[in-house]
Formats: sequence, structure tokens, C-alpha cells
Amino acid sequence: MSKSQLDLASELSQSEFLRGLIENANVGVLVFDVALENRPVVYANSRALEVLERPAAHGLVFRDLCPSDLKPGDNRRQAAILSSTFLEREGHHSEILIQKSNKISFVASAAFKRLTVKGRELVLLSFQDVTVQWKLARDLRVKQEEIERAYAELLEQNSQLKSLDQAKDKFIALTTHELRTPLSAILATADFLENKLYESDEQRDEFIKTIGEQGRHLLELVNDVLDFAKIRAGKMDFFVEHIELITLLKKVVGNFQHMAEQSDIKMSFMAPEGQAHAWADLIRLKEIINNVVSNAIKYNRKGGTVTVTLANCQVDGRSYMRISVRDTGVGIPADKLEGVFNEFETVGHVSRHHKGTGLGMPISRRLVESMGGRLTLTSEVGVGSEFHIDVPLEKVLEESFYRARPGMDEDLMAS
Ligand SMILES: Nc1ncnc2c1ncn2[C@@H]1O[C@H](COP(=O)(O)OP(=O)(O)OP(=O)(O)O)[C@@H](O)[C@H]1O
Ligand SMILES: [Mg+2]
Repeated sequence: MSKSQLDLASELSQSEFLRGLIENANVGVLVFDVALENRPVVYANSRALEVLERPAAHGLVFRDLCPSDLKPGDNRRQAAILSSTFLEREGHHSEILIQKSNKISFVASAAFKRLTVKGRELVLLSFQDVTVQWKLARDLRVKQEEIERAYAELLEQNSQLKSLDQAKDKFIALTTHELRTPLSAILATADFLENKLYESDEQRDEFIKTIGEQGRHLLELVNDVLDFAKIRAGKMDFFVEHIELITLLKKVVGNFQHMAEQSDIKMSFMAPEGQAHAWADLIRLKEIINNVVSNAIKYNRKGGTVTVTLANCQVDGRSYMRISVRDTGVGIPADKLEGVFNEFETVGHVSRHHKGTGLGMPISRRLVESMGGRLTLTSEVGVGSEFHIDVPLEKVLEESFYRARPGMDEDLMAS
């Protein structure tokens, strides 16, 4: 300490000097007389009065300010609040709520210290307003939580993408295999023909027929894959019209009679009286019904039945015409139900399939949903499955969907 500093200190009486320091400190200081009733404040420095928004008092008399005046009435923040119990314990509290004169609370970092001065029992409270820091820390916590949540979502998406990628590889392998099979059959048969390896004209005709059949099968497969790619890319055109479902269903069910009989399956359509109109693209709806009905026959048992019904239904406040297709087949286990509509999953065994890409249901669901409808399924293993194709009764799509298919006349529509 320099000489002039020592001089300064000695010029001031010691208590005056210390009081000057405390008065000018950047920390709020309150001294409570804990021996008196209500434990009034007997000293407050300027910083404390400033933070508490209380007028400066003269001398050391603050008897109108008690711990109860500093205790917040409302504790929405669920933090520790200043109360007289703190005065009985020494210690530091990093977050404690103290109320100002205007009833607004602030967050303080506070330390309580017991003192005995000239036989009087006092408690010294030194505090700093850390509301801003507290709010920043809280916002930071919220942001951190948000980041953690986003990161967890990202991890989840990443793992989903990985399994989707694997499923895609599987799908490509499966599709390629399915494409190669008819192609090999066509080439082998063409070889036979080229080398005139047939024994009779009938056998030659048989070979030619095989080429035609396998070629159509191949085309169907390629169309499925292309359709699927088109729907996924949102590039499929829809021509949604007000169509009559009873006539349509009679026709479709009639077309399947032969296939059903071959598998010894009884098909029936319980047609209600009159007409039943709904909004759909006729060609796409036919494709969907064909997919569902062909599955109902394909995955049925010998001597089983396929029952098609039509009824009104309401789902989530929307009205539909529901085409139900019930079979008496093998059924689908509950954990595999959604897999039926998943483009990269095949529920059953590929070898059992006729076409076998397993795209029938995923395409159908996407088609029906693009037309504002729904495709759902209930099933019981060993009892059978029931698919519901819900076709909207009202217009629910953008106006541009509602238009006639070009070049479509009544004759074609009926076929
Ligand atoms: N009515 C049904 N009963 C039991 N299982 C079914 C039924 N319909 C579909 N599935 C199961 O759902 C899977 C997916 O059906 P989807 O129609 O998409 O494919 P697919 O019939 O195998 O091949 P595709 O329709 O392309 O010829 C089927 O492989 C089958 O395992
Ligand atoms: Mg199918």
C-alpha cells in the first residue's frame, strides 16, 4: 500500500471507510436483525435498494422492510423463494427468488451469513441479480434439449434409411429375378423353335403360346414397376369422375369367375338395390379392385369363398362407399398386416406368387390414397382376410383432379 493510500485510510474513521466500500459495492447487501420480531432489515446498501426498487432510507432504519416483503407471492418458476427460514441457515443459493417493491421477482445468487455485532444477532444477506444469466441458461437448456431431440430423430431417420436401403437392394434383387424368369423361358422356347426341336405342329403352337404368355407376364411386371415409380414420383395422372360402383363391381366380379372356378373358389357380390356413385378414376379403381380380388383368390384355400360387398361408411367424419373383399384364405398375422402395403416387403413366399413382385398392394394403396380414398385390411390367421377399399362420396381433391379421361366413351367404361 502506498503512503497516500495509507493516509486516506487513516483520514477516514474505520467504520466510515468500510461503509463507503459496502455502499459502493456491486453486490446487494441486506442485514436483518433476527432477534427482533418480523426480523426487519436494519441495513441495506444502495445496490440492494436499487435492485429491490425501494427508495433510499435515511440512516440505518429499514424497519418497514421484513423478509415477508421480499417473499414472492407467486412461484410459477418453481424455484427456491426467499423466506425467513433462510435466515436461520447459513449458506449460498445460486437461484433464489426475491420480490421487488413492485411485486415482480428476480432471480438472485445469494449468500446468508450469521453475525453478532455488539451483542445483536444479525444475518447478512449478500446477493446479485442473475435473472438475465438465469434466463439465458434456461434458453440454452431448451435449445440443448431441442438439439438433442433433433439429433435423436436424425439417428432414427438414419437407421430407417439404412434399413430402407437394404430393403431396396432386396427389392431390386427380387424384381430382377422375377424379370429374368419369364425372359429365360422366352429365350429357351425361342431356341427350341429356331432349332426346330418340336415334334409336332401342336407342340410348336404350344411353344409359341408359351412365348406369348411369358411375354405378357413380363409386360405386366414391367408395367407394375413403372407404375410404381410413377406414383412415387407423383407423376401419375388421375381423371376422377362420378362413377357408378354397382355396375363396375358386377363386371369385375364376373371377370374373375373363371379364375375362381379354376381354384374351386365361390365368388359372390352382394349388390345393393339401385345405384351407388362415388368419386374415382375408373381405370385406377378397377386396377385396385382387380389387385385385391386376385389376391383374395390367390391366397385362398381350395373350396373357399370370396365375398364382395358394398356399403356406405364414415371414417373420421368423411363419407365413403366401402368395397369390402372377404376371403377364407390363410390370413395374415397381425405383425405382418402393414407389411402387405410396404413396397419392399413380401409377406409370404415369392415362389407361391403368380407375378410376385409384391407391388400389387403398395400400388393399390398409393392409388386409392391419391384419389382421396383408403385401403385397409383386417385379417385372422387361418380364418381369412377382409380388405376395404373406401372411395370418397364427396369431392375431397383439388379441382384439377375432376375431369373426364380423354377418349373414354361409354362402351370402354363398361368393359
Ligand atoms: N387376401 C390375402 N390373404 C393373405 N395374404 C395376402 C392377401 N393379400 C395379400 N397378401 C399378402 O400380401 C403380400 C403383398 O400382396 P401384393 O398383392 O402386393 O403382392 P403379390 O400378390 O405377392 O404380388 P403381385 O400383386 O405383385 O402379383 C402378398 O405377397 C401376400 O403375402
Ligand atoms: Mg397381388
